[in-house]
Amino acid sequence: MLDLPHEAKGRVGHTDPVSANHREILTSPSCWQYAVLLNRFNYPFELEKDLYLKGYHTLFQGSLPNYPKSMKCYLSRTPGQIPSERHQVGNLKKYYLLNAASLLPVLALELRDGEKVLDLCAAPGGKSIALLQCACPGYLHCNEYDSLRFRWLRQTLESFIPQPLINVIKVSELDGRKMGDAQPEMFDKVLVDAPCSNDRSWLFSSDSQKASYRISQRRKLPLLQIELLRSAIKALRPGGILVYSTCTLSKAENQDVISEILNSHSNMMPIDIKGIARTCSQDFTFAPTGQECGLLVIPDKGKAWGPMYVAKLKKSWSTGKW
Ligand SMILES: C[S@@+](CC[C@H](N)C(=O)[O-])C[C@H]1O[C@@H](n2cnc3c(N)ncnc32)[C@H](O)[C@@H]1O
Repeated sequence: MLDLPHEAKGRVGHTDPVSANHREILTSPSCWQYAVLLNRFNYPFELEKDLYLKGYHTLFQGSLPNYPKSMKCYLSRTPGQIPSERHQVGNLKKYYLLNAASLLPVLALELRDGEKVLDLCAAPGGKSIALLQCACPGYLHCNEYDSLRFRWLRQTLESFIPQPLINVIKVSELDGRKMGDAQPEMFDKVLVDAPCSNDRSWLFSSDSQKASYRISQRRKLPLLQIELLRSAIKALRPGGILVYSTCTLSKAENQDVISEILNSHSNMMPIDIKGIARTCSQDFTFAPTGQECGLLVIPDKGKAWGPMYVAKLKKSWSTGKW
């Protein structure tokens, strides 16, 4: 098992009992929880009743302004997992199992019917599926660079989304760093759910060779993340919304990346998303980020969600004009 990343150690120190708690959860899969996102295109009424009986409750329970009523996600305070569904050609799946914190970037995007949206790093497709539970976009472009994961993305979309809606979705296998030049100012909203040093799978590894390779890769990630964001900004129309997310505690991949973008792009403005944290503190534990526009969910006992960093930015209508 690997040690926590350097940046995380600052917050997850041995002397602080609460932080030691976070560390224990991150490295113990037996504590992990899974949320159940119901598929509105093949709604599982029976399963919903069953989840209530098992003590599950809905995320946000209607308290977040603009929460899309069509998105139903159930969580339980105890660890455990209901079995995942098998892919069957011709049958839509009824639910998707996920880390509940993965829905925060999707909610921060506030997708509306008819909007054009880009999911720049989309595989395996969890956030694309969640976006389609919130609204019916006029156009959804899901991109993934890795060819194996690209196939996985296609399969996820086919398993959850009915044919008429599949027709408004474009799936591509491009380097996300090039998409801004290929499709400038095309999108109302862009999600960059970036490749990162995924703290769950990277910290819990019995393969020491893979582990040292991953440590060496860590250093390159902030540059890749910044390049993906630059491309996303180009792809965004003036006045459009950009959401950046990672599943790491690393400040270098979270706050520092967003600070670099804000410092180098006078046309990008931070959007305050603290309201999201206020309305879901009973389900998630947040760590301070020092940013109005950034939230960080850290895994806690009975709330083993995250790590998930989310930041929201807006592109100005023209340089210097808001
Ligand atoms: C955190 S995962 C995305 C998870 C996905 N959004 C979901 O919710 O299921 C990041 C993805 O970015 C992909 N990726 C890495 N480099 C990329 C690039 N240059 N352009 C586009 N995608 C890239 C990785 O292969 C990986 O699938």
